[in-house]
Amino acid sequence: MTTGFGIVGCGMIAGFHAKAVADLRDAEVVACFDMFPEAADRLSAEIGCQGYHDLDAMLADEGVNIVTICTPSGAHLEPAVAAARAGKHVIVEKPLEITLDRCDQIIAACNDAGVTLATIFPSRFHESSQALKRAVVDGRFGRLTIGDAYVKWYRTQEYYDSGAWRGTWKLDGGGALMNQAIHSVDLLTWLMGPVTEISAHIDMLAHERIEVEDVAVATLRFENGAIGVIEATTAAYPGALKRIELHGTTGTAVLEEEDLATWDFEQSTDEDQALLERLQGKTETGGGASDPSAIGHHGHTMLFDDVLKAIAEGRSPLIDGTEGRRSVEIILGIYQAAEARATIDLPLGSDPVLQARIDGVRGGAD
Ligand SMILES: NC(=O)c1ccc[n+]([C@@H]2O[C@H](COP(=O)([O-])OP(=O)(O)OC[C@H]3O[C@@H](n4cnc5c(N)ncnc54)[C@H](O)[C@@H]3O)[C@@H](O)[C@H]2O)c1
Repeated sequence: MTTGFGIVGCGMIAGFHAKAVADLRDAEVVACFDMFPEAADRLSAEIGCQGYHDLDAMLADEGVNIVTICTPSGAHLEPAVAAARAGKHVIVEKPLEITLDRCDQIIAACNDAGVTLATIFPSRFHESSQALKRAVVDGRFGRLTIGDAYVKWYRTQEYYDSGAWRGTWKLDGGGALMNQAIHSVDLLTWLMGPVTEISAHIDMLAHERIEVEDVAVATLRFENGAIGVIEATTAAYPGALKRIELHGTTGTAVLEEEDLATWDFEQSTDEDQALLERLQGKTETGGGASDPSAIGHHGHTMLFDDVLKAIAEGRSPLIDGTEGRRSVEIILGIYQAAEARATIDLPLGSDPVLQARIDGVRGGAD
């Protein structure tokens, strides 16, 4: 049976969803909707699906089994909840939402409706990320001591000016961390485990007309006792590939986008050399370091495939709602630590009150 996908929000990333679905067997994008009719018409003409000008009409389409949410980050909640209530499975772009309360509302709506919920973090499915995870699970690092994520990217002023929602607290929910580095924050906590303490600095140094941070540095304590750093920026010309660095008492591994840049363990295995050869020079695009559209869609394809299998097998997808919420909580903790100039304990429990967000929203992001 062919599974029908419906896309909500027909902008930049929607095109990647269409390509990713096209690579799947037995799946097809059958519908799309955008609050701007011309955007829905453009995508529907391009990929040959039904373009809707009304969300409820798209959700009443019996051919739609799964809805992917590609609206601005702070506008994921409403269409995600509507889709769940209409009995559709839901796949939400990162971040799941921009506050813990809004994440929890999506998770609750999907639970109540008995539909599957997945959050999009394509990097987790890359072969190099999977190899790193396996090495952690197999204990190859010995005691993990340091885990770092570096996302030194570059975004032009034109990028921020290209959409009214970009760089606003209300709809982007944050800056270099919440929009760009969140992929790496997710990978880091997936590999290193939960974060328990955060201290941080954030600032806006290089752009105009945005409310959010374009530089951020946080130091972390993980539940396993290890420490680490997150550095995130959109102000580092010309932009470098993002890196994850894991160190332990018996091993070091460095992931540079999809490349295994370093893979060095006290106890090497027969597979190590083959893995290194296969996964060095693996990155085919800029990985979004300077151009947001210079990304591949194969991670999305693997993630969608996992969701289809999860539905068929009656299990949770690898990145469900709870997994999607984890990076949002860490980033909100970083914002709180920076604003309070204090060390913050995780879990947060509830959303921190962020003065920057209050000021930003008051300042006219509406
Ligand atoms: N996984 C990734 O690598 C990746 C990459 C880029 C963007 N994203 C995420 O995808 C989302 C969209 O980003 P984008 O770059 O495609 O943005 P975009 O501005 O290009 O597209 C957003 C689209 O949503 C539409 N829209 C806005 N509010 C809507 C609503 N309430 N209902 C229906 N349509 C609405 C807009 O008209 C626009 O066409 C963001 O959450 C972003 O973080 C993920």
